[in-house]
Amino acid sequence: MTEDFDVRLVEDVKTYTPDPQYRKNAWMGDYQKAYDEFLADPDAFWEKMAKELDWISPWDKVKEWNYPYAKWFTGAKLNITANCLDRHVNDTRRNKVALIWRGEGGRERIFTYQKLLSQVARFANALRKIGVKKGDTVCIYMPLVPEQLIAMLACARIGAVHSVVFGGFGAAALNMRITDADAKVVITADITIRRGKAIQLKAIVDEAIINASTVEHVVVLRRREPHVDLHENELDFYEMMDGMSDVCPPEVMDAEDPFFILYTSGSTGKPKGIVHTCGGYMVGTYYTSKYIFDIKDNDTFWCTADPGWITGHSYIVYGPLAVGATVFISELTPDYPDAGSYWNLIEEQKITIFYTAPTAIRMFMKMGESWPDKYDLSSLRIIGSVGEPLNPEAFEWYYRVIGKSRTPILDTWWQTETGMHMITTMIGEPMRPGFAGKPIPGVEADVVDKDGNSVKPGTGGLLVIKSPWPAMLRTVYKDDERYRKYWETISGVYTVGDLAVKGKDGYIMILGRSDDIIIVAGHNIGTAEVESALVSHHAVAEAAVIGKPDVMKGNSIKAFVILRVGNNPSDRLKQDLMHHVRTTLGPIAIPHEIDFVDKLPKTRSGKIMRRVLKAQEMGIDPGDVSTLEE
Ligand code: WTA
Repeated sequence: MTEDFDVRLVEDVKTYTPDPQYRKNAWMGDYQKAYDEFLADPDAFWEKMAKELDWISPWDKVKEWNYPYAKWFTGAKLNITANCLDRHVNDTRRNKVALIWRGEGGRERIFTYQKLLSQVARFANALRKIGVKKGDTVCIYMPLVPEQLIAMLACARIGAVHSVVFGGFGAAALNMRITDADAKVVITADITIRRGKAIQLKAIVDEAIINASTVEHVVVLRRREPHVDLHENELDFYEMMDGMSDVCPPEVMDAEDPFFILYTSGSTGKPKGIVHTCGGYMVGTYYTSKYIFDIKDNDTFWCTADPGWITGHSYIVYGPLAVGATVFISELTPDYPDAGSYWNLIEEQKITIFYTAPTAIRMFMKMGESWPDKYDLSSLRIIGSVGEPLNPEAFEWYYRVIGKSRTPILDTWWQTETGMHMITTMIGEPMRPGFAGKPIPGVEADVVDKDGNSVKPGTGGLLVIKSPWPAMLRTVYKDDERYRKYWETISGVYTVGDLAVKGKDGYIMILGRSDDIIIVAGHNIGTAEVESALVSHHAVAEAAVIGKPDVMKGNSIKAFVILRVGNNPSDRLKQDLMHHVRTTLGPIAIPHEIDFVDKLPKTRSGKIMRRVLKAQEMGIDPGDVSTLEE
């Protein structure tokens, strides 16, 4: 059953074994011991983790598994911000630095835990004052500035469900996310700053809310001096906080109350609103921040993602703050002001744990070793990767040039849906380039064939998770059927949608998506989303989109377009279509290539066979084409 899978297993890869002191000093200690302990009694394992946190009242049961629905820490009451903020302020970390932000031109802002708590409380009170209540949805569409985190934490404080939308999305994508989630408030900024240039953010919100009837207020962080004028119904972020108390009692949340919605691409044109809940997500992100990243009190932790993605939710905001870490964030890009930007920040801030994406690592490789070599990177203790497979060449380079053949690499496999790390090579374990690693303690994963049978080592198949975990998604917002599909595609297990190969000793190599999602520079893009954006252009009759392997971005987007009668192919039209996708979906979804065609390969039932287009494009065998229309 596995012949369909493109197995690229290289078993003779080199193994790197970190210095034994890593394992000795790690919070987790010995991987196998921890894993065995988990398997022996999963609920006891998670209960022990949960007990490291503060709860308003405890749970009746650790887990209720009613396939395919799970509830965790049933009956327990909590507020995650009490764990991310108050717990540290009441303890010894009141004056510890929680957050350091670096902007362009050397600008720096620092928040201690006390200061962050006060700001969050004041903004939370301000949101309450304009009528935001527990269960209301708030859309956050902001640049990577401290106020973005403050807005998220303030929502969490009062039990409002946030839906953070990455600031790079275009107006149509934002509109869909605002309306699907029935957002009552949109929090944004006038501008975002990219490579020395101001990009108008609020202009996109203005367009996105035209038909969004649920939106009552738009809150604007005004960064520009002098301040831009506000429209009617718009509120200034800081003016709202004027006169607000810096005490805001945390809303009492049930462990299973919805915590946030985060949209991710699916195989239809409509993104999925992944719903996470309060208790399990808190335990999962706390556990992995502490035991997988091994964050210690004197670490400075830098995750280069944006809070608009799950990586930012879990490993900029909630996980690291729950463990009381010092979190570093920056609005700078890796190539601005020059290609040494990130290395300069690591030296300047003495970053100890650095977490980035393979696409960035490959870009660093291209820019050359001379850039990192100019800086002192000796503060680094652990370096991580997420978002797509870390290919062996990129692993070797990252390990040698950035890690100085010393620091372990954590190649973490997980998803928006999983909420937390699931597979990696734990600190101190032997690392095998190309392999993400093994399931972490707390997670049961396997590689199976289409019928769900576990494949033999050395064989490829579908990656699945075999039992529920606390930070798992609970549903897809307003579309529970799409949730059930994860658990029903192969009966009894959670099908993640990735192809993988089982190596020896339980190591897993992730190959990439098995569905219609293309991962471009670490961002998930649905082929259907790009197709419907193209078809919304007046000149386009039909479109098909495929992912093409790309050395830098992992994949690039290629579109095949049939024009409506009366339109002629031209370079100008191509540019116009690219621009159209940019303004509707955003720059991350722009096709890199567009071909104008007269026909698309379809099944007799009319479905576009993207597989055939891809095979043609790459000069490979398209496989079974018996369903292809004449
Ligand atoms: C891919 C990002 C290989 C995978 C946290 C997954 C990876 C999708 C890795 C989820 C990794 C993520 N190695 N592939 N270490 N990490 N992926 O929802 O295809 O944005 O299904 O979550 O990214 O992307 P998402």
